[in-house]
Amino acid sequence: MSVRRLAANQPDSFAFTPENLEWAKGQIAKYPEGRQASAIIPLFWRAQKQVGGWLPEPAIRYVADMLGMDYIRALEVATFYTMFNLSPVGEHYVQLCGTTPCWLRGADELKEACRKHIGPEGQISADGKLSWLEVECLGACANAPMVQINDDYFEDLDAEKLGEIIEALRAGREVKPGPQNGRRSSEPLGGLTSLTTLEEGE
Ligand code: FES
Repeated sequence: MSVRRLAANQPDSFAFTPENLEWAKGQIAKYPEGRQASAIIPLFWRAQKQVGGWLPEPAIRYVADMLGMDYIRALEVATFYTMFNLSPVGEHYVQLCGTTPCWLRGADELKEACRKHIGPEGQISADGKLSWLEVECLGACANAPMVQINDDYFEDLDAEKLGEIIEALRAGREVKPGPQNGRRSSEPLGGLTSLTTLEEGE
C-alpha cells in the first residue's frame, strides 16, 4: 500500500446530520466510561458514508472531538485503515482484489478493464461516475476474481463482464451483484458433487 495522504482540497467543515448524530451517540454509549475512543471506526465509517465515500480532514477532527481524542490519534486510524478513503471517489467506487487467489484467476485482466473503462487507478473518471483502487483480499476467494463496487460484491468475473458492469453503472442501468458466471453462491460450477441426495425425512 502506498503512502496515504489527505486530499489537497478539503471542505471547510463537517458535522453529522441530526439522524447520524443520534446514531453516533448510540454507538458511543456501547462502550464503558473512558473507552469512548473505541467507537472511532463506526463513526468514521458513518462520516464517510455521509460525505459520499470519503473522509475529509474536518470529519476526522469532528469525530476526534466527539470522542475526546487527540487529532493525531484519530488521523493515525484514518490513514492506517484503507477502508477509509482520504480523497474523493467516484459515484461507483470499484475496489479490485489483487491478492494471490484473485491474481491467479485473472485480477490483472480486471485491472486492465478498469484502466480501459474508468482510467488510471485512484483517479475519478472524467464524468465523475467511477473510480477504482486495487485492495487486498476481500474474503471472497472462492469466487475469484472479484471486485467490490460500493456495498456489493461482483464475483467470478472476467474482463469483458467487468467492462459490461462498469458501462451499465455509468449508464444508470441495474446490475446484479454476486457470481457473474451463472453459479449460485460458491457452489461448484458444474453442479453439486456431494450431498446430492436428501435422506428420508429431510
Ligand atoms: S484473494 Fe481475492 S477475495 Fe481473497
